[in-house]
Amino acid sequence: MTDANQQGASPAPQQGHSIETMQVEERRFPPSAAFAAQANAQPAIYDRDFDELWSTEAGRLDWFEPWTELYSWNPPQAEWYIGGKLNVCHNCVDRHVLAGRGDKVAFHWEGEPADEIVPITYSDLQSRVVLFANALKKLGVQKGTAVAIYMGMVPELPVAMLACTRLGAPHTVVFGGFSADSLGDRMVDMGCTVLITQDEAWRRGKPVGLKIIADEALELAPNVQTVIVAQRTFAPVAMQAGRDVFWADACAGLSDDPASCPCEPMDAEDLLFLMYTSGTTAKPKGIAHTTGGYLVGAATTHHYVFDHKPETDVYWCAADIGWITGHSYIVYGPLANGATSVLYEGTPDFPAHDRWWEIVERYGVTILYTAPTAIRSHMKWGAEHAAKHDLSTLRLLGSVGEPINPEAWIWYHEHIGGARCPIVDTWWQTETGMILIAPLPGVTTTKPGSATKPFPGVDVGVFNEAGEEVGPGGGGYLVLKKPWPGITRGIFGDPERFQDVYWSRFPGVYFAGDGARIDEDGDYWLLGRVDDVMNVAGHRMSTIEIESALVSHPAVAEAAVAARADAITGQAIVAFVTLRSGFESSVAMLEELRNHVAHVISPIAKPANIVFTPELPKTRSGKIMRRLLRDVAENRPLGDTTTLADPSVVGELQDRAAGENAGEE
Ligand code: PRX
Repeated sequence: MTDANQQGASPAPQQGHSIETMQVEERRFPPSAAFAAQANAQPAIYDRDFDELWSTEAGRLDWFEPWTELYSWNPPQAEWYIGGKLNVCHNCVDRHVLAGRGDKVAFHWEGEPADEIVPITYSDLQSRVVLFANALKKLGVQKGTAVAIYMGMVPELPVAMLACTRLGAPHTVVFGGFSADSLGDRMVDMGCTVLITQDEAWRRGKPVGLKIIADEALELAPNVQTVIVAQRTFAPVAMQAGRDVFWADACAGLSDDPASCPCEPMDAEDLLFLMYTSGTTAKPKGIAHTTGGYLVGAATTHHYVFDHKPETDVYWCAADIGWITGHSYIVYGPLANGATSVLYEGTPDFPAHDRWWEIVERYGVTILYTAPTAIRSHMKWGAEHAAKHDLSTLRLLGSVGEPINPEAWIWYHEHIGGARCPIVDTWWQTETGMILIAPLPGVTTTKPGSATKPFPGVDVGVFNEAGEEVGPGGGGYLVLKKPWPGITRGIFGDPERFQDVYWSRFPGVYFAGDGARIDEDGDYWLLGRVDDVMNVAGHRMSTIEIESALVSHPAVAEAAVAARADAITGQAIVAFVTLRSGFESSVAMLEELRNHVAHVISPIAKPANIVFTPELPKTRSGKIMRRLLRDVAENRPLGDTTTLADPSVVGELQDRAAGENAGEE
């Protein structure tokens, strides 16, 4: 089905465009009439005026004091809902209980050991949050106290975040897979005085000692004076007298009555949290998000992009809360909208490859949001695992984090969505706080591999080097021309770096660092990070198109390409390929894949060589690290590997690359 639909277009260089595009994806998925009729978004949403839209949508929140000015914009500084006062915990928890929805499940929490299942209603959530907020208060936390949180996917994690927001204490959640150094650096940078962690976390059937890692981090961060330790496994842990206290002991004897701990009225522009994101070399950036604009943005996009119906949907964002996706689309957006969500502690393959599908069946999940890397893992494991379960409750699927290869999109559509669910491919970033480019289900005709249209009230463009719009058909740099409510207010403590990274390439315009092209219908195709663009014989090509061509071969589960220097063509393409289960690497397979790329895209995109590998090097959030693949392709020492999820993967790849030059021309 693939080749017939993905014919190679002309590879002639496109004048004035920064990145060439060669792949043409012709498959179209218009919304069904039935979905369209019930959809939250209707076509007229695209006609809405910017000011009207963001003013009206702010009405989905409760404001203690109304805002007086919609936004101000002095690049790079934006402010939204100026003068407004609100509280995030009130909007995410208390108001639902006050409205009589206390018995509704907020989270179906499921532990990695499958026998642990805890439904948490909005009333339960309120009690837990109030109790813990009282504990924090007693330990000296108040409005403005910086709190670090280092936990796995346990109920105490959202409870801790919400308790901070109740008191007006900004938090930084550090993903539970990060090292002691990463945690220590972040706690120092934010000036945290409190850390909330847990004894151990479950990871693929094994306990991981988070408290031990936290203790190491605390040596680097003497500013932290109080450590609260939730007990997940009840393993014995070292507790430092005067500094460390167990969660249960901190809460003992305190009230869970909401009146005992009112929600602090916060200014719309008060800091809500920092989310650190690693640059390629320098120290991580503390991306700042504030209260009002962030919450309006997360709630509004969650409502429309996921077509969320609080009364009937069971929503599951399978990310980790330690990333921005989990902040905006597990915790803040869905809770603001009164959602019933699944919160799952473990990995997709424990104890077996069908764990996710078992969960979908158990809770009757209707909306599933995940990442291309997870979808490709499921492809690698085989569709039979999903086929064992009843997935008929699903009605919408989402993707985020990387460009999704068209073949992975089709696999997701057929094997998970039963060919009936719209797929929303959502483009956004830690810095944007909220989805900015995505289909609106029921309105948008989707195309596998395209994030389609800017969200209403979001002004996106694609510029060439000179800062001119490339227009339909062209590839270039993705930019945002106007602010949006969830835009980061800056890099914590480093305004110069903020200016430099995002605002210096095109003055007054936000440069996202991604390449993109717009097609004749005005749909956006994300091309990956511009740093990854390759130049082969004068053709500037994105990695994603060649990777997608490889993934469109039935033997391939996952592929990544990188360039190495070449005396004749300037750069030559090296592909790293993971085969689906049941296929073997061989010289014949290598030739077949090279020819497949030549056929699907163009002979100039044909990889010079292919390295077969069981795993690709990825960051802990699942993104392929092409920078390291470049080092492997060039046969040079590896750059910084500290952000790798599994450092052993690249060492193995170097060995394989050294032994496999068979495909070289
Ligand atoms: O390169 C884009 C890619 O992920 C980057 C943002 O990463 P992060 O800040 O970790 O946030 C991930 C979750 C929002 C972007 O600059 N990216 C994210 N979503 C997509 C994507 N690339 C293509 N298509 C997407 N849907």
